[in-house]
Amino acid sequence: MSAIKAYYFIYFTLFLVVCCVNGFMWNGDTFKRKVSLEMNPGLTPPSAAPPNVSVLHARALGNNDTLHFLFCSGGAPALLVIHTHSAESAVEVNWPKFLSSDPADSVKVEPESSVQYRGALVFTRLWEYDELNSTGQSVLSPYELKDFEWDDVNKTVDYTHHTAQLCGRHASFSSSASLCLHFSAYESSGREEAWPSLLHNANSSQLRILLKDVMPRTNQSHFALELQTVSEAGLQTRVNVHKSIDDEYTPSIFQVSEWVWSHDNSSSSSSSVVGFSQWKPVVYQKSLPAIEDAAPCSHSEPVDLPQAPPSRIIPAYFTQNLLTHGLNVTFNVSSEPAANSTQFLSWTMLAGIGIPPSDFFSSLVIAIMAVGLGTPLVLLVVGGVYICARKRKRDTLGQYESIN
Ligand SMILES: *[C@@H]1O[C@H](CO)[C@@H](O)[C@H](O)[C@H]1NC(C)=O
Ligand SMILES: *[C@@H]1O[C@H](CO)[C@@H](O)[C@H](O)[C@H]1NC(C)=O
Ligand SMILES: *[C@@H]1O[C@H](CO)[C@@H](O)[C@H](O)[C@H]1NC(C)=O
Ligand SMILES: *[C@@H]1O[C@H](CO)[C@@H](O)[C@H](O)[C@H]1NC(C)=O
Ligand SMILES: *[C@@H]1O[C@H](CO)[C@@H](O)[C@H](O)[C@H]1NC(C)=O
Ligand SMILES: *[C@@H]1O[C@H](CO)[C@@H](O)[C@H](O)[C@H]1NC(C)=O
Ligand SMILES: *[C@@H]1O[C@H](CO)[C@@H](O)[C@H](O)[C@H]1NC(C)=O
Ligand SMILES: *[C@@H]1O[C@H](CO)[C@@H](O)[C@H](O)[C@H]1NC(C)=O
Ligand SMILES: *[C@@H]1O[C@H](CO)[C@@H](O)[C@H](O)[C@H]1NC(C)=O
Ligand SMILES: *[C@@H]1O[C@H](CO)[C@@H](O)[C@H](O)[C@H]1NC(C)=O
Repeated sequence: MSAIKAYYFIYFTLFLVVCCVNGFMWNGDTFKRKVSLEMNPGLTPPSAAPPNVSVLHARALGNNDTLHFLFCSGGAPALLVIHTHSAESAVEVNWPKFLSSDPADSVKVEPESSVQYRGALVFTRLWEYDELNSTGQSVLSPYELKDFEWDDVNKTVDYTHHTAQLCGRHASFSSSASLCLHFSAYESSGREEAWPSLLHNANSSQLRILLKDVMPRTNQSHFALELQTVSEAGLQTRVNVHKSIDDEYTPSIFQVSEWVWSHDNSSSSSSSVVGFSQWKPVVYQKSLPAIEDAAPCSHSEPVDLPQAPPSRIIPAYFTQNLLTHGLNVTFNVSSEPAANSTQFLSWTMLAGIGIPPSDFFSSLVIAIMAVGLGTPLVLLVVGGVYICARKRKRDTLGQYESIN
């Protein structure tokens, strides 16, 4: 009887511990924004943009602030992140000028004085390397994303789920080959089901880059994607790599990389971080991957670049002294010499403002820790109480004896 009671007691206590820890540490982020998408803001029907130039505006309204994401084609694809401390800030595009050969200063976020942070991420090149045995590697001529033929984004916009897709092809690609960018904006914290299931929040949006059927030009090629960023002078940038012991959401991956912008460059203080890109060092080779379809990827250190990236929106929006940085993300997937192996690569990143979302231990790990640490403790307490009770009983008996 008492043993059963003790078990109930132990499990009830553990249940409470798990719930408490979860409630405090894991589901703490309840911050929400109201998200709405708008295609080519300010362009009214009789006039139209050519299909290879588009601006998708995701407006994410907070209590007192607005976060604007501009996902743009027209040259190399770009994602602009603009944070304003006004609930009424608006994107204004001077379309005749934006579509002209000199788009300078044709995109504004008004009122200008409400802008707190602005940054841009541009996907500039797809590199291919020939992995020579033992003698190193040779770099093949890169595919310039500014020269791709980009599809019309308008057809792919999902105004309910806040997603859109931009697909393009290089002139030398086969007809089935493509490079696509899937954009998602979020109203609240959560995870996509598809691996790597990055934790997002209402201050971030996600880009998934898919490379389909791109035939390698050598028998042992691997690919790399070149990313460039534009930020305002005065911000410091660095890539931090964090380790984690938890891989429940991204099996077998124990790291996360964060490319951050901050007002100072001490890597220990995260409180001064104003903008970020974040990814896990993994690339998947199937659209519905198993663990064996995951391959590692690595990034180079960010370098200063002398020129702004070749994307129409960059000179159109950034007019003051801006800084350009770049890095390569290399996918460690060697193509098999076997012909006709379907080529598929999927890599995912987040871009947003403030401190990047970070995984705390998942509920599974917390439960395991609670059982591991809690059970001996509870047994100790229960055992102690039991022994005390026995001792008191015997003492009482002893007293009776002494009286007799
Ligand atoms: C919004 O800003 C106003 C003034 O700037 C402030 O009084 C108010 O408390 C803020 N509201 C919220 C929800 O932050
Ligand atoms: C868009 O396509 C037109 C032809 O339809 C071409 O002249 C123009 O250069 C393209 N623009 C970009 C940014 O690729
Ligand atoms: C290295 O490549 C050469 C040809 O490029 C080939 O003859 C040689 O067998 C290769 N060596 C190894 C160890 O694969
Ligand atoms: C987008 O597509 C819809 C129909 O799907 C059309 O009515 C609308 O005019 C298009 N907008 C632009 C900016 O092309
Ligand atoms: C998102 O940004 C807003 C405004 O800077 C901030 O108040 C809020 O705490 C942030 N939320 C998260 C989850 O970082
Ligand atoms: C690739 O490998 C095949 C056979 O394995 C060989 O015939 C072909 O010449 C190789 N191509 C190159 C570019 O090395
Ligand atoms: C920040 O980095 C720059 C160059 O990267 C360096 O000159 C400067 O001293 C650093 N500042 C601090 C506070 O570490
Ligand atoms: C990316 O890699 C290529 C080839 O290795 C190199 O030429 C280029 O400078 C790199 N880009 C950046 C931004 O580091
Ligand atoms: C790619 O992965 C293999 C083993 O998985 C490793 O030996 C190699 O060093 C990696 N290459 C790069 C460039 O990371
Ligand atoms: C391999 O690819 C070629 C064209 O690249 C195609 O003609 C052939 O049918 C393919 N073979 C298989 C088995 O898929």
